[in-house]
Amino acid sequence: MDLHPEIQADRKFVEEAALLHDIGVYKTYAPEIACFGSLPYICHGYLGADLLREEGYGRHALVCERHTGAGISLRDIVDKELPLPRRDMLPVSIEEQLICFADKFFSKTELLKERSVAEARHKLERFGAEGLERFDFWCKSFL
Ligand SMILES: [Fe+2]
Repeated sequence: MDLHPEIQADRKFVEEAALLHDIGVYKTYAPEIACFGSLPYICHGYLGADLLREEGYGRHALVCERHTGAGISLRDIVDKELPLPRRDMLPVSIEEQLICFADKFFSKTELLKERSVAEARHKLERFGAEGLERFDFWCKSFL
């Protein structure tokens, strides 16, 4: 954000939402990160969103459900039969986009390592071409 003051993101909100965006992960089954819930890992975004909505944090909830991959479109949810609610989960606000993008450079299993752009992009390949296009756009916008 300091590199691009023209972006005019809400810094306080970005800090809060960045801290909260993975809050739903404990409800999923991901033993490599000590999560022993019952649902697939891909669900952690909307699960966190549900938690935050219940607490009255609707804007933060949107960051949760829109940060997986480079966002997930309704079409992808339907076409790939993903275990997600049937709605677009694409980052919209600049804050949602920033957090989704920044998240791609970090892993829960290698906490001290920051991925290179190439590594982050490679991790997104499984989500398809549209996600890669969004990632490439964010590289031009945010780096
Ligand atoms: Fe996440």
